[in-house]
Amino acid sequence: MSAPVTVVEHPVLADRMRVMRDRTTYHGAFRRALHEASAIVAIEATRDLPTEAVEIDTPLERTDARRLCGDVAVVPVLRAGLSMVEGFLRLLPDARVGHLGMQRDETTHSPHGYFERLPPRLAETHVFVLDPMLATGGSALYALDRLREAGARHVRLICLVCAPEGVAAVAEHHPDVPIWTATLDRCLDENAFIRPGLGDAGDRVFGTP
Ligand code: PRP
Repeated sequence: MSAPVTVVEHPVLADRMRVMRDRTTYHGAFRRALHEASAIVAIEATRDLPTEAVEIDTPLERTDARRLCGDVAVVPVLRAGLSMVEGFLRLLPDARVGHLGMQRDETTHSPHGYFERLPPRLAETHVFVLDPMLATGGSALYALDRLREAGARHVRLICLVCAPEGVAAVAEHHPDVPIWTATLDRCLDENAFIRPGLGDAGDRVFGTP
């Protein structure tokens, strides 16, 4: 079994990805495009969240309605994943926010963790792991391993740009984790950068290497 990959198709999302891919886009415009792209992907990735029936009073009469229910958490992979949090919290303002800090070693391309703070009751929580880039998949596998070890059972990986190599790595090691992304790019290059890609999302969104 391998997890489904959903490539979200939406004209506004395509436009924001254009802005992010363009090398001349400066930090402010890059950040804004990333926020908006994340919100559009969030709408699709939350499509099957549970709801419960309630009754409410409109100004005119009593009627049936639906209310979101259950625990939801977003877990950004630091640093770049932080820039996706706002888009999700606009839709899910009561979501808890965990943090997983890790960085790819520039030579080995393997991640090393430097910070971890996860929400409680992970087993019952719908967890959205946020990272705009899925390259080799090393960072995502580290994050998913940590969440599994902490008891998470309902986990989704939310990206904006994925390489086929990273998707394959997640499918092999976490076949039950579905992926949502704005684009599926061509390949990784010899430096494990996604091509055509958008460069290093963390560097571009924060303006620091
Ligand atoms: C980038 C990116 C992902 C990771 C993807 O982060 O934001 O977290 O690399 O690569 P992988 O799939 O090969 O692991 P980076 O390590 O550059 O850290 P940053 O977010 O602090 O810039």
